[in-house]
Amino acid sequence: MTDVFDILSQDHRAVEVLLRELATTSADAGPLGEKLVMEESRHEAAEEQHFWPTVRERVPDGDRLADRALSQEDEGKAVLDDLRKAEPGSNEFTQLVSKFTQAGRAHIAFEENEVWPSLRSVLTSEERQELGQKIERAKEAGPTRPHPNTPSSSGAQKTAGAAAAVADKAMDKLTGRGKK
Ligand SMILES: [Fe+2]
Ligand SMILES: [Fe+2]
Repeated sequence: MTDVFDILSQDHRAVEVLLRELATTSADAGPLGEKLVMEESRHEAAEEQHFWPTVRERVPDGDRLADRALSQEDEGKAVLDDLRKAEPGSNEFTQLVSKFTQAGRAHIAFEENEVWPSLRSVLTSEERQELGQKIERAKEAGPTRPHPNTPSSSGAQKTAGAAAAVADKAMDKLTGRGKK
């Protein structure tokens, strides 16, 4: 099952679950926050490499949609980068979670309601599978930190983003991050 919309939708639902958990539990705030940062970093980097270039190419008005989404993703990355550095359970942490929750929900709604229907209508089912496969692969190889200073253009994500992803994984291995 590699339909692009199924894969992205699973990711979105997983993020929503994490956000709900973060809003209700304080005990696991650290590991939950870490998981959110890792999942989101992979998801958005994969979209930046493969999803938005396809939207630009295939959807009439795709450039406008992609530009708006990328600016939302950049904003989200900046918040997650602050969250990653904040003390779990602190006021700052809680405020950043609620800031990300608002922005993240708006971003998911924008993608699902304003972008997906147009893209769905122009892709064949084979193309949906192919794009899904590319996104899955990019997620596996993707960064686990937000990297707000790496440009979100697809070219930059494939070069600078890929190098950052390798460094992230080496550091995760060293610290056992994301294993809890
Ligand atoms: Fe996104
Ligand atoms: Fe998304």
